[in-house]
Order: sequence, then structure tokens, then C-alpha cells
Amino acid sequence: MPHLLHLDSALDPRASSSRPVTAAFAQAWRALGPDHTVTHHDLQADPPPHLAHAALHWAAPLRTADEAAAEVDDPVQRALLDELLAADVLLVGAPMYNWSLPSTLKAWVDHVHVLGTTVPFGDRTDQPLAGRTAVVVSSRGAGYAPGGPTAGLDHTVPPLAQVLGQSFGMHVEVVTLDLTLAGRVPAMAPLAGDAEAQRVAATTRVQELARALG
Ligand SMILES: Cc1cc2nc3c(=O)[nH]c(=O)nc-3n(C[C@H](O)[C@H](O)[C@H](O)COP(=O)(O)O)c2cc1C
Repeated sequence: MPHLLHLDSALDPRASSSRPVTAAFAQAWRALGPDHTVTHHDLQADPPPHLAHAALHWAAPLRTADEAAAEVDDPVQRALLDELLAADVLLVGAPMYNWSLPSTLKAWVDHVHVLGTTVPFGDRTDQPLAGRTAVVVSSRGAGYAPGGPTAGLDHTVPPLAQVLGQSFGMHVEVVTLDLTLAGRVPAMAPLAGDAEAQRVAATTRVQELARALG
């Protein structure tokens, strides 16, 4: 049964640019048939707490004696890991906030990026998510086109590509929508047509991806 984990992290469900795009992916996924199941985790409505202890960055057998003595265990982390490991495909709504990840999404990353559990480390070589696909939908108020003067300011997509791609071994597809503030910032008004074209292209792209991956 192909299963999708759909994460959203945009602050405002009514005005979000990323949420309609992730929703279009999920809708196209569900349209593939009743066996195409979805878990939707809204990280804004149901945010993970900050990581409670540094030991949670390590699988239990890799913890120091002090960490082991503290008997750190976290049901929130276990639940987030179970939710992720159950997914054949991961969909991440990743708006740019202050050039980086929403804090809710960063907290999610901190819980699931675990050396020796989701990330191979030492003799713990398992990489359980390797070969699966993650689709990252990143909406940004300004423009961050590759090769442009502001491309290096994008600290939203690169950490996700590192964690999901390099650490987890997932195949990462990135879909971006730039210029989403064109309708709000008067100086960006001439860019409204470009912004709309990017929104349409992103929606079409995620629908294609859902059909290809499902
Ligand atoms: C707290 C906050 C910080 C933001 N920081 C940036 C930024 O650093 N660069 C940028 O281009 N846009 C920034 N924006 C604009 C958002 O990236 C833009 O509104 C985007 O559409 C967010 O995705 P969403 O609509 O799904 O929330 C910020 C918006 C908010 C609410």
C-alpha cells in the first residue's frame, strides 16, 4: 500500500503559498486509488517540541555512559520516527522564514535525524529510508533563482537536501515558488505575472510527481 507522509509547516493556513501546492500533491496521490494512503502532519497545528536531550541525536547503543545512565527515551521522537519510517514517499512543505526553515520543521528534523537509527554511523550501517523519495515544496517571498545574486541566501532547501538526501539517502525532488510576496509588496507588483507562472508550474510539477511516484 503506497503511503505518503505529508508535512506542512506554513504559519497561516489561509494565506499560505506552500500549502495549496502540497495539497495538490496529496490530492493527486489520493486520486491514484484508495490504496494510496496519506498521513497529514501539520507541524504548525501540532508542532514537535524542541529536542529534549542531546542524547536523542544518537541511537541508544551509541550513547555515552552518562547519556545511557540518564535513560533518555522520548515517545514524541519515537512517534515521529515511526510516522516517517512508515512512509514510501515524504512530502515537505518548507516555506522560507528568515532565510531558513520554519522552527517547527527544524524541530521535526532534529527529532528524526538520529545517528545510528536513520543515519548510518560506525557499525550501525542501516539507512532505512535510502532509495525512497522526498518532495520538498519551498515557497519564498523574494527570488532565489539558481545562479542569481540571492541564490546563496537560501538556507531552507540546502539543509533539507543534506538531511534527506545525504544523511537519509533519499532521492530529493525540490519544487520552488519564488516571489510569493509580489501581491503584497508594492515594489514587487511588476513581478506578479512571474509569481503566478511559478505557482502554476509548481502545482503542475507536484501533480506530475505524485502520479510518477505513486
Ligand atoms: C516569519 C517570516 C519570515 C520570512 N522571511 C523571509 C525571508 O527571509 N526571505 C523571503 O524571501 N521571504 C520571507 N518571508 C516570506 C515567505 O517566504 C513567503 O510568504 C512564503 O510564501 C512563505 O510560504 P507560505 O506562504 O507557505 O507560508 C517570510 C515570511 C514570514 C512569515
